[in-house]
Amino acid sequence: MARRKLVVGNWKMNGNRAGNVELLAGLKALGPFVADVVVCAPFPYLADVALSLQGESIAWGAQDCSAHESGAYTGEVSAAMLAEFGCRYVIVGHSERRAFHAESDQLVADKAKAALAHRLTPIVCVGETLAEREAGQTDVVVKRQLSAVIHTLGHCVPQMVVAYEPVWAIGTGKTATPEHAQAVHALLLAQLGAASPKASDMRILYGGSVKADNAASLFAQPDIDGGLIGGASLKAADFAAICRAGV
Ligand code: 13P
Repeated sequence: MARRKLVVGNWKMNGNRAGNVELLAGLKALGPFVADVVVCAPFPYLADVALSLQGESIAWGAQDCSAHESGAYTGEVSAAMLAEFGCRYVIVGHSERRAFHAESDQLVADKAKAALAHRLTPIVCVGETLAEREAGQTDVVVKRQLSAVIHTLGHCVPQMVVAYEPVWAIGTGKTATPEHAQAVHALLLAQLGAASPKASDMRILYGGSVKADNAASLFAQPDIDGGLIGGASLKAADFAAICRAGV
């Protein structure tokens, strides 16, 4: 059975209260969608977003969470705090956090575990840099990143969503070709399959310069189950068009 598509907007550190109201109003007016749709907003706006999306079919999530339960971790936000507000999803291991905050594969895995402990679905990002791609290391890198998560989650592996985001494609306008993305997704699915008999139910998203005009060809690939969208998730019409692509 085909997996239902999942389209996640990652607003990153963009927006303001008035702009968010407009964006969400636009999105609600353009829905409902056949695909599962999620928006991941910056922490201070999550309560507003939750309120705005009450009773809607659009879910919301955060862009990061702490690996720790509670305690002296200034500036961090725990999975328990997010869950208390009705959060359903959390992105972990985004390449911007791996690069700018030196997050290791194990820390990302620990964050995914913390999320699951509070019934949040972790969207675990993996992806190679341009240098790694040019060195022919794509497969090795994504397998290493995913392997840490698989080992840490154990039997909970099928409860996560994986997102393949080649770093060289993020915000650059250089999308991976559907064939390249599909090849990496197939590799990730095989790795998940070796770890869990339920892997065939899992969703693997593609992210990196997904736009309204290239989403359909990416989502048509057999192992691309939707997208993690940055820039194009900031405009309601563009994001809605991506949510409708391929379903
Ligand atoms: P862009 O869609 O802006 O390339 O960003 C992708 C991304 O990083 C989503 O998490």
